[in-house]
This record gives sequence, C-alpha cells and structure tokens, in this order.
Amino acid sequence: MVSKFNPFTPGTGHVPPLLAGRAAEVELLTNTLGQLRGPRVRRTKLLVDKPLPPIRICGPRGVGKTTLLSWLNRQPQFRDIRIIWHAYLSKARPTDVPLRSLLFNMFRELSALERFMGSKALRAVTISMENGEANLAYERMAEFMAAKGPLLMAFDEIPHFDLDSLAAILRTNQRLIEEGYPLAMLLIGTPGLDAHLRKADASFIDRSTGMYINLISDEATRDAMRVPLEQEGFAVQPDALEAMAAQADNYPYFTQVVGAAVWDAMRKSGHKKVDVGIVEQSAEKAESRQNELHYDSYGMLVDNGLLYHSRRVMDLLESSGGSASPEVVFNLLAEHCTEEDEGGPEAILDGLQLDGLIWTVDGVTRTGRPSLFRYCQEQRLD
Ligand SMILES: Nc1ncnc2c1ncn2[C@@H]1O[C@H](COP(=O)(O)OP(=O)(O)OP(=O)(O)O)[C@@H](O)[C@H]1O
Ligand SMILES: [Mg+2]
Repeated sequence: MVSKFNPFTPGTGHVPPLLAGRAAEVELLTNTLGQLRGPRVRRTKLLVDKPLPPIRICGPRGVGKTTLLSWLNRQPQFRDIRIIWHAYLSKARPTDVPLRSLLFNMFRELSALERFMGSKALRAVTISMENGEANLAYERMAEFMAAKGPLLMAFDEIPHFDLDSLAAILRTNQRLIEEGYPLAMLLIGTPGLDAHLRKADASFIDRSTGMYINLISDEATRDAMRVPLEQEGFAVQPDALEAMAAQADNYPYFTQVVGAAVWDAMRKSGHKKVDVGIVEQSAEKAESRQNELHYDSYGMLVDNGLLYHSRRVMDLLESSGGSASPEVVFNLLAEHCTEEDEGGPEAILDGLQLDGLIWTVDGVTRTGRPSLFRYCQEQRLD
C-alpha cells in the first residue's frame, strides 16, 4: 500500500526512513549512552566506572551530523536519559548573554520534574542569573541536572558558538564528567570544530573521541533509497537503482532528494515498478537541487578567498591519483598562504573541507564529493 506521504526526508536533521551507513557511529553512541546507566555509588550517586570521554562529531555539510542526534533523541530505548540539545549559542549583540538561552532550554527540560522546581538548588540558579553571573548559573544548573540521573548534553553547530560561553560550558562539563557524574557530551560541527574547541581552551580535546563522518558507502547509498521504496510497496529494478545511485553521489542528503523525486514520480505514474524511465523522468528535480548546492559551495570558496588554494589542492590530488598525505597538502597551503589568509593553512583546510570538496580521514586526504569536485574543476574552464 503506497502511503500519501513521501517517506524521504530531504531537510536539516530529518531522520531518514533508513539511517544508512552509520552502523559504527550508532554503535559508539549507543555504547556511550549505555554506560551512562552504569552502576553508581549509593551515597554520592556518581558512576562507579571511569568517566566517559566527550565525543566530537565532525563532517561537511549535509552528511547527517544533526540527523544522528535526532535519531538518538527518538530512540525509545533512551527514554530514561535526559537529552539537552543546543545549537547556535551565539552573540548577535554585545549585550547578549548566550548562556541564557541554554539555561532556558535546560529549565524547560527540567520542568518535567516539577517536584524539584522549588528546590534550593534551583533558587540558587535563579539568583546567580539575576546577579549577572551566567557562568555560575550554568555551573549550578548543569551539576544539579547531572546529579538527577543520566544526562546527555549535545551541542550542534559549535563553530558558531560564542567562545566565552563555550569555554564556560566545556570547563564545567569536563569537571562534572571527571568527577563521575552520569553526563555524556557530544560536540558537533562542520570542519573548524576542532579549531573552535581549541580556541575555547578545550584541553581535553586530545583525549576525546572523534567521529569524522562524510559520504556513505556504495551499498549504503543504494540501501538508503531502495529500502524505503520497497517498504512502500515498489519493486526497484537493478538498473534503476544504479541510475539513482549515480545521481546521489554517495551524499546522504542526496539519497533523500533523489528518493523523494522518484517517489513523487511513482505516485503520479500509478505503477509499482521503479524502472530507468521513471528515474530519468524524476532526474531533473534532483539535478537542479544539486546544481544549486554546487553553485553555493563554489560561491563560498570564492567569498572566502579560497579559490586559489582550492585549485592548487585539486591539481595536486588529480595528479596524484585522487589522494595525498595530509602533510603534503598542508605544506602546499602553508607555502602559498599570505597574511590575508586569516587563520593560516589550518583554516584554509577547514574551508576546503566545509562542503566536502576534499576530505581527510585515517591519515589520507582525498578528493571529496565527486560531483562537487567536478563542478569546481569545470568552473575554471569557463
Ligand atoms: N545516514 C543517512 N542515511 C540517509 N539519509 C541521511 C543520513 N544522514 C542524513 N541523511 C539525510 O541527509 C540530510 C542532511 O542531514 P543533516 O541535516 O543531519 O546534515 P548535517 O551534517 O547536520 O548538515 P549541516 O552541517 O548543514 O548542519 C537530511 O535530509 C537527512 O535526512
Ligand atoms: Mg546539522
């Protein structure tokens, strides 16, 4: 039975019908949350086992970082773990107190525990806030919540966080984690995440667990589109699936764009068999979305003054079979970096990885999303 609603989810952080190709990440997150429920010392309520290192999730735009968080948030098996999820802790005006929005978020979560609302600890939080001591208010609130039971604090879009607030959060949370409170911390962001954490004096960063995510495998790409279509009662022909995979480029966001376009075409056609003809009919929609994205990504390289560097790195990768050692890439950037390149070669590298033009993992830098790489190469021919 074909449902009325398109099952695919081409949108920010929307949990897809099949979370494809993220088994290792799901396992790590599941284990971490499981450890939060570990045995605790009866008197202090602190965890008996050793503290949990914070987890960093870093990847280019649109590869599913926020989706991992939305997925966790929805799992009934974690219902007993309180999740504080906060994005965009920024300072738009000099008078803003960014921690206020986080505290508000925590209060809202806590209101489910009304019986504690009148407690002394919460009054202390309010007083600190009224005295303009936002850091102290956060410290009290975080300790109070972590003492109540398993707590996951997830911060998304970290590279946009106000540095002073981020430093205060990290300092407090790290102390609580080290003392054995049942608190886990996820730090999420695009490339630039690590640099921003370092700027916030996050000395534990080298001891935290890093998950660097990017494109999904060929098999996962096909599964992400095939499984939901089959669940909707469609039969997907092998050559149709190949045509869809070629459009999706192993890019998680695109599996949803392509899947959604095919599903629409199927609904209109009234057929049950997804064949190459249908995929071709629906291709235009997906392609135009893809071109918009490429246009934006390329525009970003231009706006951020990265065109020159991106071309040098693309040439290097092309002439060396698609991959190079990160040191060679870094040296190339360092050699041609000028005073105008704010943040030096590190920041240039983050800029080139932001949309996945190139990607470094397991000690190798490679060409990134194939269609974006091609698009950027083509622009210089025009
Ligand atoms: N594992 C996956 N399988 C299939 N689709 C996925 C997967 N992960 C994410 N998606 C889809 O990809 C799209 C982008 O996901 P998401 O917004 O989580 O990316 P992001 O990495 O947080 O990007 P940004 O850096 O822009 O915030 C969404 O439409 C989501 O449904
Ligand atoms: Mg996101």
